[in-house]
Amino acid sequence: MNSRKHFGKIEVYHDKNALTRAAAERIIELLNQRLREKERATLVLTGGKTPEPVYRLLALSLNLEPIDWSRVHFFWGDERCVHPESRDSNFGMAWHSLISKLHVPSGHIHRMIGEMPDAETAASLYETEIRSVLPGTGIPSFDLVLLGMGEDGHVASLFPGTHLEEERLVMASQVPATGAKRISMTPRLLNESRNLIFIVAGSSKAKALAEVLEGNRDLPAAMICPVRDNLIWMTDQSAASLISGFAGSAGIPGDVA
Ligand code: 6PG
Repeated sequence: MNSRKHFGKIEVYHDKNALTRAAAERIIELLNQRLREKERATLVLTGGKTPEPVYRLLALSLNLEPIDWSRVHFFWGDERCVHPESRDSNFGMAWHSLISKLHVPSGHIHRMIGEMPDAETAASLYETEIRSVLPGTGIPSFDLVLLGMGEDGHVASLFPGTHLEEERLVMASQVPATGAKRISMTPRLLNESRNLIFIVAGSSKAKALAEVLEGNRDLPAAMICPVRDNLIWMTDQSAASLISGFAGSAGIPGDVA
């Protein structure tokens, strides 16, 4: 019986630059893999600061494999309840760093309506939109989901102590420290995805990352256990520095203990 504490394969890169390039290459690799099989691919973007250089590199496509972005549908794993032009908007960050530079039909951009007065309504509408793009009776399955992790082990906008609405695919939440409203996909939806990549960098994440990989389910990121067991933790050495038993050699993939 595999006593593995947590799902996932971890890859450790020398520094944030190496991690950024590796993440951009992996995203294109997985999307192109899907586009060889299907007419379209579905991609869920994460917010925060870590992915921004990855998005910029994808937009520049410097020494990256070509990809037909017009066949990719873009979703968001979470959003702040702000206007899309707000500096806090996850959509706004992805639009300015990546999507505005690509040829993506507007119908392929599925934005969470963060500016809607009621986050619950916005969450329900987004669930409906997801099901309209990914129809079927079961839980929709995205081709690729990108995730970040907060220093407190939060994922998307699911924070330690967030009351998880188990049956929901998208829910309203809030930042514990500020009460700021959020909209977030739930583990129930995220775990159905074909591929999930966490991109985690910096020593400030080391403690939470080690705890999550030890299976501490008080940390929401530990609830990401995809049904297809196809989770990759892409980190730099600073973030991976407290993972027990990890040699920490740059770029050496290995199963998490
Ligand atoms: C958000 C993100 C969030 C993010 C983590 C890590 O809306 O902020 O979706 O879950 O991934 O907070 O953020 P950094 O990459 O900025 O550390």
